[in-house]
Amino acid sequence: MSNHRETVLVAVVAGFIAVFASEVLRRMSYQRDKKKLGPIPKSMFGRTLLQEEFALKASYAYCNCGSFGQVPQRIILEQLRIMQKREADPDGWYRFGNEKSLYLKSVKQLADFVGANPDNLVLVENASTGTNTALRSIHLAAGDKILVTSDTYEAVLKNVKVLLDEIPGLEKVQLELTFPIQSEQDIIVQYEKVISANPGIKVAILDHIASQSAVRMPLKPLIDLCHSKGILALVDGAHAPGHLHLNLEELGADFYVGNIHKWLFAPRGCALMWVHPKHHDNTNPLVVSHNHMLQTLVDRFVPSATRDSSAYLAVPAALEFHHALGGLGVIQERNSDLVTAASKMLSEAWGSEEYPIPLDLRAPFMALVAMPQVFQDHFPPDEDSCNKLMKRMHEKGIFLCVTNVDGKLWARLSAHVWNSMEDFIVVRDTVLEMAKAVPSVVNGGLV
Ligand SMILES: Cc1ncc(COP(=O)(O)O)c(C=O)c1O
Repeated sequence: MSNHRETVLVAVVAGFIAVFASEVLRRMSYQRDKKKLGPIPKSMFGRTLLQEEFALKASYAYCNCGSFGQVPQRIILEQLRIMQKREADPDGWYRFGNEKSLYLKSVKQLADFVGANPDNLVLVENASTGTNTALRSIHLAAGDKILVTSDTYEAVLKNVKVLLDEIPGLEKVQLELTFPIQSEQDIIVQYEKVISANPGIKVAILDHIASQSAVRMPLKPLIDLCHSKGILALVDGAHAPGHLHLNLEELGADFYVGNIHKWLFAPRGCALMWVHPKHHDNTNPLVVSHNHMLQTLVDRFVPSATRDSSAYLAVPAALEFHHALGGLGVIQERNSDLVTAASKMLSEAWGSEEYPIPLDLRAPFMALVAMPQVFQDHFPPDEDSCNKLMKRMHEKGIFLCVTNVDGKLWARLSAHVWNSMEDFIVVRDTVLEMAKAVPSVVNGGLV
């Protein structure tokens, strides 16, 4: 009897060891392959990719890449390697051009990716820095007007407000985008009307993908419309790189700003700013330092003063990761299918609706679904309600951006390569659970 028990025990322990050893071997061979970074099969997208490549908590249904992006672990390691190189030789780095040569390499590779002439492209810390820089480069004066919309990003509107406070006589014109929108033409017509009703608009801030509504704007026709009326076009493309195909030279805006840290896997603190050659001479970094007044745009924006530029220098690694996943076509098709299916599934389960715009106006990786009716009944459609609901979701281990558009509360879904339908199923059930609790605790503040 005791012999039999020992045999069973030995067999169980041996089984554990075998499973453990085979897992270790599998991981080791994956690590070897990871170093080379060969193509990552589409079958790995979702949970497997999340576990293998990202630091996200596995228990967290994070469907909100649209807010802050997500940095793969291999890119974090690359950033560390860059920092170590710097620390090994700070003078070579800052004084004798090692940092600069890596910066120029990043700009060149990124320029190829976004269809830009590298002479017109620089890196800045984030979309906010880019839009601030661009607005400071335009000589705005009394009598000029800045065109924004009801969908312009809140922080950008604050930037406009500061300029209005600083420059007496400068005005803001706000286009209240009205919905439902049936086509690109509907948006263009609304722009035509506001421009003809407001002579003197000097610059229009155009979204490529609007943050609150996830509408993909008809950018090229809007840039052309602005130019035909003598209006400068400053594009807030915070969501575009890694999300939409870009050819910045063909778009021909005056300024185009886009985050690399949102959908394109760069470490946080990395955005691009494309500047039309006619504005190069007037465009300068917000902080005056050693490169002040250098001749070319790119030379003026090469990092100067003592700072950490490792996020910029990790751009080639981020692009390599993006390519290993199959590139934009593959990622777009997969994310777009996922978000389309998730949006339909959630709107049905919640008895609500999908945002009423045609599919071709929807950002490929994001969609809006109305929150269940009980939330609409108990929460006013304002920022405070959005924040309360997001806080509660965070506590419950899911995340979606809750936005307030057209007098309603919407869940903005984001789908990127680590997401799978499982995430949205967890989101579905958690929100339904929250919905059940609403009437009883709403007066206490949180759902
Ligand atoms: C449309 C839009 N513009 C600007 C920004 C600001 O980006 P950042 O925080 O990287 O400056 C965001 C951020 O989500 C955005 O969605």
